[in-house]
Amino acid sequence: MSRKILITGGAGFIGSHFVRRFITEHPGDTIVNLDKLTYAGNLENLKDIDHNKNYRFVHGDITDAAFISKLFAEEKFDGVVHLAAESHVDRSITNPLEFVMTNVIGTVNLLNAAKELYKTNPDFIFYHVSTDEVYGTLGDSGKFTESTSYSPNSPYSASKASSDHFVRAYHETYGLPVKISNCSNNYGSHHFPEKLIPLFINNIKNNRPLPVYGKGENVRDWLFVEDHAKAIDLIFHEGKVGETYNIGGNNEWKNLDLVKLLCGIMDRKLGRSSGESEKLISYVTDRAGHDFRYAIDSGKLMQELGWKPSVTFEEGLEKTVDWYLENSEWLEHVTSGAYKDYYQEMYGEGK
Ligand code: NAD
Ligand code: TYD
Repeated sequence: MSRKILITGGAGFIGSHFVRRFITEHPGDTIVNLDKLTYAGNLENLKDIDHNKNYRFVHGDITDAAFISKLFAEEKFDGVVHLAAESHVDRSITNPLEFVMTNVIGTVNLLNAAKELYKTNPDFIFYHVSTDEVYGTLGDSGKFTESTSYSPNSPYSASKASSDHFVRAYHETYGLPVKISNCSNNYGSHHFPEKLIPLFINNIKNNRPLPVYGKGENVRDWLFVEDHAKAIDLIFHEGKVGETYNIGGNNEWKNLDLVKLLCGIMDRKLGRSSGESEKLISYVTDRAGHDFRYAIDSGKLMQELGWKPSVTFEEGLEKTVDWYLENSEWLEHVTSGAYKDYYQEMYGEGK
């Protein structure tokens, strides 16, 4: 049976990969992509599929309750995959309220509208795409599992933890069929160049300093974005209602080691001598409340639903670098305008 699915945040990094995957894998269904097109959302990310007969874009803000409730009443979605969010930790430190508005209030607006549709559609599913950062930080050992207690440390992770709690609460209180996934750091094409990997690719390309926070000893578990999109698809269709699934790459890297690996790849691709890009590394003041280490145990997802990552980190990083070098126009577009002011505020004049 054909279903109409709302994907929020489909013009962003992970959302655009997920929309493309959904359209390709489920040609019998219809997708409505709702996105506010903030600095992080860009319809260029979807230009290859925007004429697909099963796809439609709606420009709108999830914090606008009246708009959301009207859209749901008119469209009668069969399910929601909710990715729209403010997603950058550093921005959450300078402007926490914006994160409360979109990530918490926006999610509750969607839940309220979903609750109405569920009254007449018992098969309705509300899927919240969330982050491993809700669990807080790890020491040198151990991994986050689905039963790790929440202990968010940044305004970003606090807002995502709050939205996860609301999603669970709507399941317990109103019986709304929900699913949640908590994923580790993603990388890949179409990633806005304010996060570590795309920022550093762009800076190496332009011979700008690479601002490593603190001593570069923090650890992240990196996952190729297309493997995340595959996991969301699997959980949305086959995951158990009311459950949480952790998604991770089993791929931990200390920031400094990752930056050196990236510098080596860039030297090779740009025809620079070995070690040239590493000279751009510049140690800067550490991020406030910087979580030391994230690592995910994806055992539940692998054993119950048969998911596994499809590319090694080296392959994925190489593909990612190639995409950025071949898509200078995309980089130009997304780094013009408001981004310029943000960049100068963060890293200073002329960097
Ligand atoms: P992103 O910042 O690239 O994209 C977010 C999208 O949401 C943008 O298209 C933006 O325009 C849209 N948006 C923001 N505010 C909105 C609003 N008020 N109304 C409607 N649309 C709005 O983020 P991303 O990295 O693609 O992350 C997507 C989701 O995945 C987020 O919920 C994030 O918390 C989660 N997540 C991200 C990562 C990661 O490594 N990037 C890892 C785990 C989970
Ligand atoms: P980021 O990509 O912002 O993701 P998150 O904070 O959600 O994990 O950062 C990844 C790691 O890289 C994190 O430990 C902070 C660090 N980092 C830097 O050292 N310099 C930078 O300019 C950025 C953006 C991040």
